[in-house]
Amino acid sequence: MFVIGSGGKHLEGELRELGGEIIEVELRKFPDGEKYVRVLGSGNEATVVSSTFAPQDEKIVELLLIGDALRERGFKKLRAVVPYFAYSRQDRVTKEGEPVSVRAIMKALGIYYDELYIFDLHNPETLKYFPGKGVNVSPARVIADYFREKLGDGIVLAPDKGAHERARAVAQELGLEYSHFEKKRVSPTEVEMRPVDIDVRGKNVLIVDDIISTGGTMVKASEILRKLGAGKIFVGVTHGVFAEGAIERVSKAVDELAVTNTIPTPVSKISIVPEILRL
Ligand code: R5P
Repeated sequence: MFVIGSGGKHLEGELRELGGEIIEVELRKFPDGEKYVRVLGSGNEATVVSSTFAPQDEKIVELLLIGDALRERGFKKLRAVVPYFAYSRQDRVTKEGEPVSVRAIMKALGIYYDELYIFDLHNPETLKYFPGKGVNVSPARVIADYFREKLGDGIVLAPDKGAHERARAVAQELGLEYSHFEKKRVSPTEVEMRPVDIDVRGKNVLIVDDIISTGGTMVKASEILRKLGAGKIFVGVTHGVFAEGAIERVSKAVDELAVTNTIPTPVSKISIVPEILRL
């Protein structure tokens, strides 16, 4: 039984279509801006689905209120599916006095939820901060399915070493080669970025990553691939946290940009709903 928060409304139609049972919930705001939540069903177990894209803080508070309402209603086991987890990039203290923000949010959710499912978490190690069972869900299968025919016998690339595992997972689904970009010093004054140990000439390339923000990473990677004579360039990313103008910038630089619908955007063409139903 699913409970859909305001960060999951864009997934609700497909969840219902594919057979997901939904417990109705009333969600609105008090005149002063505070959230009002009322669960309109009962049961033992529930999976609350809500992604925490902007305005992030409201959606986080709402997840806490829904958790409290469900416990109050007598639900015994609660799972939270938070496809995009806000604050996930603030996973360390860089200046004295800062919080580990991702830890704060995970601990707070742990008050109510027994299990937490996040898609392609920026740093999967941070799941250790969630007191219950924390799962990092891979979108590799749905991204691979979307690009299978377009990519043909192409290759899968990660824009940096940190995303290498993501490229491996998608490439494995497709049975294709994969690699990542690396910075290479070519002279004392010059650093070159290029794919490691793989020839892209004439090959279609799919670049995968967890997040697009400004789009700078993808634009740079695609410029390099064009210079190296790659065929078609596709970008398949999990979370489209697009800054102003980023969709246009990346779309202009590549043959196709597609992200998953962990966040609803004009290019969220790849659905994670089938994966939610498999959890
Ligand atoms: C970095 O660690 C992330 O995985 C992404 O590569 C990064 O957030 C993308 O940012 P932008 O789109 O601004 O280049």
